[in-house]
Amino acid sequence: MKLAITLQRLRALKFAAEKIVSLTAYDATFARVLSEQGVEIILVGDSLGMVLQGATNTLAVTMDDMVYHTRLVAAGTTGPLILSDMPFMSYATPEQALANAARLIGEGGAHMVKLEGGSWLLDTVRKMAERGIPVCGHLGLTPQWVNKFGGHRVQGREPDAAERIYADAHALEQAGAELLVLECVPSALARRITTSLSMPVIGIGAGPDCDGQVLVLHDVIGVSTRKPRMAKNFLQQGGSIEAAVAAFVAAVKTGKFPEPAHGSDH
Ligand code: KIV
Repeated sequence: MKLAITLQRLRALKFAAEKIVSLTAYDATFARVLSEQGVEIILVGDSLGMVLQGATNTLAVTMDDMVYHTRLVAAGTTGPLILSDMPFMSYATPEQALANAARLIGEGGAHMVKLEGGSWLLDTVRKMAERGIPVCGHLGLTPQWVNKFGGHRVQGREPDAAERIYADAHALEQAGAELLVLECVPSALARRITTSLSMPVIGIGAGPDCDGQVLVLHDVIGVSTRKPRMAKNFLQQGGSIEAAVAAFVAAVKTGKFPEPAHGSDH
């Protein structure tokens, strides 16, 4: 029987310089496979809008969708930390954020919720943390901002944008965030943020120096129609879904994934 993964355990892994492994799942069967293969954080991502619902972005995902899929994941596992995305406009005000996070935790069984954004979210994050809601920040390429960004584009390449992301990461930690996802930023910026924060930083397309790595499960098992640069198909070397997940876990733990080709430096 595997240990249940807590925030304390994730901090201990960061302190011990052991890489943290995260994958998305949206149902009980895949949640069970992931927990059996040693995935520490299961992200019930709003990427389900693309991989389950066939949309081109995450914007149409609803709170009801997120509560439903979080409940399915929670039914499939007791080990990993369950991190659920708050969907587009579900945290536009602190009051909305508190009520909707309470649904993900109370009805869905999430252990932690993830919100996209920096300085504008600080009051919300502070209020959530004060009321016992564990919060994960998400900076860099924040997919709910796709229309503002003009596409799913690398963020933080210019010095002032990099400084803003760095400052936002520290402000989120000060406000009470206990985990951070950094998506599609240059590896030097990701390294600087990761080494200067106490909270663990999980990267995707952010180079090898984050405290852990996350990918969308459907990309890892090679069934996505999209082929994002930061992802890798592990089914080719694994031969079965279980072996592909095990290969991803081993590659992250040993520092073999990500390779430079999966980063945002080029
Ligand atoms: O929704 C999701 O799956 C995510 C990851 C891509 C980090 O937020």
